[in-house]
Amino acid sequence: MPAPASPLPSTQQLRIDLGERSYPILIGEGLLAQMAQLPLPAAHAALVVTNTTVEPLYAQTLRTALAARYRHVGVLALPDGEEHKHWQTLQQIFDTLIEQGSDRKTVLYALGGGVVGDITGFAAACYMRGVPFVQVPTTLLAQVDSSVGGKTAINHPRGKNMIGAFYQPHLVVCDLDTLRTLPMRELSAGLAEVIKYGPIADMAFFDWIEEHLPSLLARDPAALAHAVRRSCEIKGEVVGQDEREGGLRAILNFGHTFGHAIEAGLGFGNWLHGEAVGCGMVMALHLSRELGFIDDALVERCTALIARAGLPTRGPDLGTHRYLELMRLDKKAEAGEIRFVVVREPGRAEIVAAPDATVARVIERCCR
Ligand code: NAD
Ligand code: GLY
Repeated sequence: MPAPASPLPSTQQLRIDLGERSYPILIGEGLLAQMAQLPLPAAHAALVVTNTTVEPLYAQTLRTALAARYRHVGVLALPDGEEHKHWQTLQQIFDTLIEQGSDRKTVLYALGGGVVGDITGFAAACYMRGVPFVQVPTTLLAQVDSSVGGKTAINHPRGKNMIGAFYQPHLVVCDLDTLRTLPMRELSAGLAEVIKYGPIADMAFFDWIEEHLPSLLARDPAALAHAVRRSCEIKGEVVGQDEREGGLRAILNFGHTFGHAIEAGLGFGNWLHGEAVGCGMVMALHLSRELGFIDDALVERCTALIARAGLPTRGPDLGTHRYLELMRLDKKAEAGEIRFVVVREPGRAEIVAAPDATVARVIERCCR
């Protein structure tokens, strides 16, 4: 992935290579206020979609910056929370666009975490069969994962991200300054997706995270910049090879099969997505060991890092039958057979089916 010069000094730039759908990711400080200097989509109007928590923190800065580039800039604050990632909230975006007379020359800006990013991206994919959108992620999780790669979705009450589209943004802008206001629990949730990249793709990065975890937890800007950059590089390499998850991209779902079952089983919004993924990775590591791919030492090493990051390592007791039922709805399942991302060897993942009895043993060992 070549790294072209950034339009702003001291800002890092990566590129997601997807032919005509390629786009840059900019990583730096103070970017919201300098937005007008970035390569934004040409249009005459913009709608900043955010939520009621992020709006008072950052919407005015972004709106002021965008006013230099668009004739009209609106702001829509959605209700905050995973439990609102559904049809009715999506409908609010369409209602606003239609009320404002928005045409195809309107750009959507997703200002917030992964929930705002996923819903706004899906709205952009659908409105008038597609308008451009820009990801402005303000959580660590969104900067290292959800804003990149074009997965957009809402939840169905019975399953996570069941309704959505692959739709790439025009640009991703990661302003590291926004991470200063993130609650500690949310920072930890983001670290789950950072840690994820180690066992599946890059154990040298895992070593780096182990060493620099105190700096990451202290929000040291240089450590955060490296974590965001390396995570986006790894994700970009995978997405560049398999944009629509024909195979390889599914490795990015490490920990998510168990994790999505936890989120849906407890009711969306009880555990944070990153918390469910952290615990789901522990379960997926146990499964990898049960299948004979990795040893106890790797399971223990990864579990220790997940715990140090402030994430749960034991799952809720939903009952084995309920876990299996929920996981059969996972998007990787084929003909009712659940497929799991496992660590084949340190730094390399694979997607496999596993016997229910083996999965049941893992659930019984890892859940209260
Ligand atoms: P989130 O969007 O709910 O944000 C977490 C919380 O932090 C919210 O309360 C939000 O209002 C608040 N917040 C956001 N930015 C803030 C800031 N700078 N300061 C203070 N508070 C701030 O959760 P998330 O962890 O960002 O994202 C999780 C979602 O992302 C899930 O729905 C998950 O399914 C999705 N996801 C999608 C992908 C993808 O590829 N599309 C990948 C991973 C996760
Ligand atoms: N977060 C998984 C993916 O983007 O494929």
